[in-house]
Amino acid sequence: MPRMNVLLIGSGGREHALAWGLAASPLLGTLFAAPGNPGIGQHAKLVGLDVADHAAVIAFCKAENIGLVVVGPEGPLVAGLVDDLAAAGVKAFGPSKAAAQLEGSKGFTKDFCAEFGIPTGAYGRFTSLADAKAYLAAQPVPIVIKADGLAAGKGVTVALTRAEAQAALEDIFSGKFGAAEAVIEAYLDGEEVSFFALCDGEHAVAFGGAQDHKRVGDGDTGPNTGGMGAYSPAPVFTAALEARTMAEIILPTLRGMKARGIPFRGVLFAGLMITAKGPELIEYNVRFGDPETQVLMMRLKDDLLTLLLAAADGALDKVSVRWWPGVALTVVMAAQGYPGDVLKGSEIRGLAAAESCEDVEIFHAGTKLSGEKLVANGGRVLNVTALGPTVGDAQKRAYAAVDQLDWPEGFCRRDIGWRAVARESK
Ligand code: AMP
Ligand code: GLY
Repeated sequence: MPRMNVLLIGSGGREHALAWGLAASPLLGTLFAAPGNPGIGQHAKLVGLDVADHAAVIAFCKAENIGLVVVGPEGPLVAGLVDDLAAAGVKAFGPSKAAAQLEGSKGFTKDFCAEFGIPTGAYGRFTSLADAKAYLAAQPVPIVIKADGLAAGKGVTVALTRAEAQAALEDIFSGKFGAAEAVIEAYLDGEEVSFFALCDGEHAVAFGGAQDHKRVGDGDTGPNTGGMGAYSPAPVFTAALEARTMAEIILPTLRGMKARGIPFRGVLFAGLMITAKGPELIEYNVRFGDPETQVLMMRLKDDLLTLLLAAADGALDKVSVRWWPGVALTVVMAAQGYPGDVLKGSEIRGLAAAESCEDVEIFHAGTKLSGEKLVANGGRVLNVTALGPTVGDAQKRAYAAVDQLDWPEGFCRRDIGWRAVARESK
């Protein structure tokens, strides 16, 4: 096969991990990234494209003979970048705008699950505060209130009391999250798992499970974040649960999307709750998880570019996915203040020492170069990722690398993987 140029869209730790995976491919010609970050720049030529300007992205792809565009974040997918690329004859990994509604609209997804029998919590959808309050009055607590649309994880309230639920509804209908539509959803009790499946519209292949740590503080306390660390595989997610998830959730979704005339291509990221009944869907994302991708890439044995191309080409029935044995675990280093306001620009030292630790990769999530210095440039800044034979070993290696970093303005959780470590020591 001739080598292929690839354009990767995005600038976070997820994209650094994807760039690292793509760079190892024997099929890769030149990797470009827009806008990328200094870590991604170790593997790719960074280009200053405005990703919202689809015509400019298309022109770049034609000029650089791009064989595949890999879209990291959901924003460009929901904005229809893949549709416009396809119309211009440029191949991309990621769903169309219509298929991206699985992430872009919680209401769409809940209605879809009801129609195709996909297990998820009971729900109601409301465009009026009065109707929402009337429905709420008849529901047990805890209960979950969600703003529709992309709210970057911030539009969700798990309310322990009815008063808390009412306040969340009032926030939504005051327009705080844009469109005033609320979903009220039954609370699902269990352990959360992030599950990934590569899809080509017809076929799906399992692409691993992981557990994320959403709360900012040790012991899963404090506000929700984009994710403070993850590990894969997740011991709670057995092969039997994975098989059920494929049969009961992923494959019915693929069939349903095809039946609606909007086949799903790309990666389907199912946020699952493992309840007493089995896997139930909390939500779909239509992109890779961050920081879950960082651990998946460390474990992936097969060629990433081959797999992403197969998804774009409708050829996933011809591939298999194999993993290295062992566990990968990533610790997110964030700037103090995250997930609130953070101070940007503090210098990060000790990266070379941390990176030289055995079986460790450090992915850049929010960094930039200021002259010769590497400085923090966001909330989540670095993903210190390690491989080990057990979760406990991977955890020790990751924290040994964290301790080589000299960045007083940063912090991390010290207990990433605690659930799995506790299971291992039983
Ligand atoms: P979402 O943005 O839909 O992923 O929700 C953010 C977080 O809220 C999830 O990761 C869960 O921890 C929690 N959550 C959302 N929906 C539910 C639910 N129905 N039951 C329990 N927890 C939920
Ligand atoms: N780590 C969760 C997400 O990527 O949405």
